[in-house]
Amino acid sequence: MDRRTRIGIIGTGGIARAHARSYAQIPDAQIVAVCDVVAGRAAAFAAEQGLDARAFDDPGGLLAEDLDAVSVCTPNVAHHSATVAALRAGKHVLVEKPLAVTYAHAREMVDVARSTGRILSVGFQSRYDQNINLAKQVVASGGMGDLYYVDMGGGRQRGLAGGTFLRRELAGGGAILDIGCYSIDTAMYIIGHPRPVSVSAATADHFIRNRAYIADAAADVEDFGAAFIRFEGGLTMVFKICWAMHADSLGPCLFLGARGGLRLDVTGGLGDDTIVGMTYFQDVVGAPTRTALPVRRPGSRGSFERKVAEFVRAVREGGPAPIPAAEILPSMAILDGIYRSAAEGREVDVRDPVPQA
Ligand SMILES: NC(=O)c1ccc[n+]([C@@H]2O[C@H](COP(=O)([O-])OP(=O)(O)OC[C@H]3O[C@@H](n4cnc5c(N)ncnc54)[C@H](O)[C@@H]3O)[C@@H](O)[C@H]2O)c1
Repeated sequence: MDRRTRIGIIGTGGIARAHARSYAQIPDAQIVAVCDVVAGRAAAFAAEQGLDARAFDDPGGLLAEDLDAVSVCTPNVAHHSATVAALRAGKHVLVEKPLAVTYAHAREMVDVARSTGRILSVGFQSRYDQNINLAKQVVASGGMGDLYYVDMGGGRQRGLAGGTFLRRELAGGGAILDIGCYSIDTAMYIIGHPRPVSVSAATADHFIRNRAYIADAAADVEDFGAAFIRFEGGLTMVFKICWAMHADSLGPCLFLGARGGLRLDVTGGLGDDTIVGMTYFQDVVGAPTRTALPVRRPGSRGSFERKVAEFVRAVREGGPAPIPAAEILPSMAILDGIYRSAAEGREVDVRDPVPQA
């Protein structure tokens, strides 16, 4: 590609600012169009960010522009429609996390990306966290033997979201979709995306329903979720997440194998910049040992900019997607299963009747 990569941003709220700042650092890219369904918001965003970009009040106008790629930065529920429309208009897409709010939507997004031959990358900047990649290397080294159990997730004593994140009609869910999606993606990335079979889950909304914590009487999402997940081959996983609790931790994350184990100490959940300790356990000539692995100190960010830069690089080089949506389908099956299981009060089957290509 010999011209600068022409970028559009769909949805100009909070996280669009981080996208704009990241694109601004890439000499080969320029934001040429922005849109938001709230009239005037895109134009105000362009002015605020100092962009020489056309501003639209609907995605249709933006998608008719000469663009190579778009960032989808809408609330979760609109990821599906905005992404599918952009792919069908021939644009490559970087969609913010979570990929979608249901497995069916995620599957359709992946199928449309395949049929249009466009890149569909998902905004999990956690994939560039050095500590997460160290944990992945430890598991992939094979020294732990067969993995049989993962315990992951986490929570905050107080960390309730606000705004559009509290409305199911916009966010699709609460803490599980908002921060739980990072824990699930990170754990699945570390262990290589095995296929889930079933999920048994429960959710709670004690903080959300309590006006002492949330003034918005229309807030209708969960602030807590817990699940037990079975995978093909016998691996099991425990997941727990919360935006708030009357405690300071839900414990460390654990990866247990037949010959070794890995403990990750996390703050607020498993994800970008949250791992504060990593310990590897194994027997040496029959004696149980533990080794503290060197973790990078939290606080030195940069992974967000990297996810945007890697997306632009993929667009310019013709792919593949740096964080492929197709790889995230098993995680989406888990998320979807958590909400279905919690609603039905029983374990649900999360196997895809249509096998992935
Ligand atoms: N990767 C990260 O670190 C990170 C951090 C925060 C949020 N996010 C994700 O980014 C997304 C947006 O979050 P936010 O905090 O920016 O929300 P926000 O509510 O601040 O902004 C969303 C914007 O999208 C607009 N919008 C809604 N529907 C639209 C549509 N169909 N077409 C165009 N515009 C539309 C809204 O009017 C709003 O201006 C969410 O999916 C969230 O999970 C990611």
